[in-house]
Amino acid sequence: MSAANSAVTDDTSTTIQPDDEETDSALGDDVSALSESIRSSVFEYRYENGRRYHAFGRSDYLLPNDEEEQERLDLIHHIFKMVLNGALYTAPLKHADLQRVLDVGTGTGIWAIELADECPTAAITGTDISPIQPTWVPPNCQFYIDDAETEWNFAEPFDFIHGRALCGGIADWPAFYEQAFRNLKPGGWLEMQDHECWINSDDNTIDRAVWGKKLVQDVDEASSKIGKRLNIAHRHRQWMIDAGFVEVAEDVFKIPIGPWPKDKRLKEIGRVFRVQMIEAVPTFSIAYYTRVLGYSHEQAQVIVAGVRSEFLDKSLHLYLRWHFVRGRRPAA
Ligand SMILES: C[S@@+](CC[C@H](N)C(=O)[O-])C[C@H]1O[C@@H](n2cnc3c(N)ncnc32)[C@H](O)[C@@H]1O
Repeated sequence: MSAANSAVTDDTSTTIQPDDEETDSALGDDVSALSESIRSSVFEYRYENGRRYHAFGRSDYLLPNDEEEQERLDLIHHIFKMVLNGALYTAPLKHADLQRVLDVGTGTGIWAIELADECPTAAITGTDISPIQPTWVPPNCQFYIDDAETEWNFAEPFDFIHGRALCGGIADWPAFYEQAFRNLKPGGWLEMQDHECWINSDDNTIDRAVWGKKLVQDVDEASSKIGKRLNIAHRHRQWMIDAGFVEVAEDVFKIPIGPWPKDKRLKEIGRVFRVQMIEAVPTFSIAYYTRVLGYSHEQAQVIVAGVRSEFLDKSLHLYLRWHFVRGRRPAA
């Protein structure tokens, strides 16, 4: 498969215009307002640094799975939908086309549950290494504890497979794509949605975000060291092409951290995303610092506090790139 059979819509060449009326004086204002069939071994959680981590199978997934994290996942779900103007996916699939859908690494299952509500005639399956899904779910939605890095054993193939924010959870991405390909019906679609774990700016204000720059570099180093790199969102498209998918297309968006953009829609997205980012800083760093890089909890907390203060500084025009990539298994 060549890259010729793919398309990229990349809005990231457009510079987001900052709103000059925003100052750095409103520290914390909207943040505080918004911040408000399983095997027993799965529940043997690991507790450290005041957070709870999963314990199923391999324990090298270093993001927590406690209530704080579940709230963050539900918040970022809404931001994903804000970015897609309310849609759950970008693949060219009508709800009526969907019979069997798989959501790999489903987290709290919020995406799977909403799709099950929207498509009552489709059977939606969610899998995860952590048992953090609710028990009261729509009748056409079911969850299983399963490590996507082991052999996928589904009785029948799917029309649509979706994976969102799985960075840091998979070591061998080509193997993941190969399994996704095999578990799709011919003509079925795969969609991967992911955020980069790297902070950018268009006006060099990133240079003043010294804590943020340190954190993304350290976490990139630590996650690469354990073989599950976090910053891989920019690689999904090529992995998908290499696995044999066709009609591969990608949308890349700049997602602002904070309400600094002039554009009203981006301002609102940035306002909510900053709340999520403030919650995400320890999620995406503490275990990497303490387990992999040998920092003490206190040392890691100093960095977390520094990054959080930068996210609250509206004179810094920071953003992350988000990637939405879809591709089709060739029809027969
Ligand atoms: C950041 S969360 C995203 C959850 C969900 N996809 C969403 O967007 O709301 C990543 C999820 O992937 C799960 N995960 C990580 N590695 C995994 C693996 N190898 N197999 C299955 N699930 C995995 C984690 O337990 C976590 O729930």
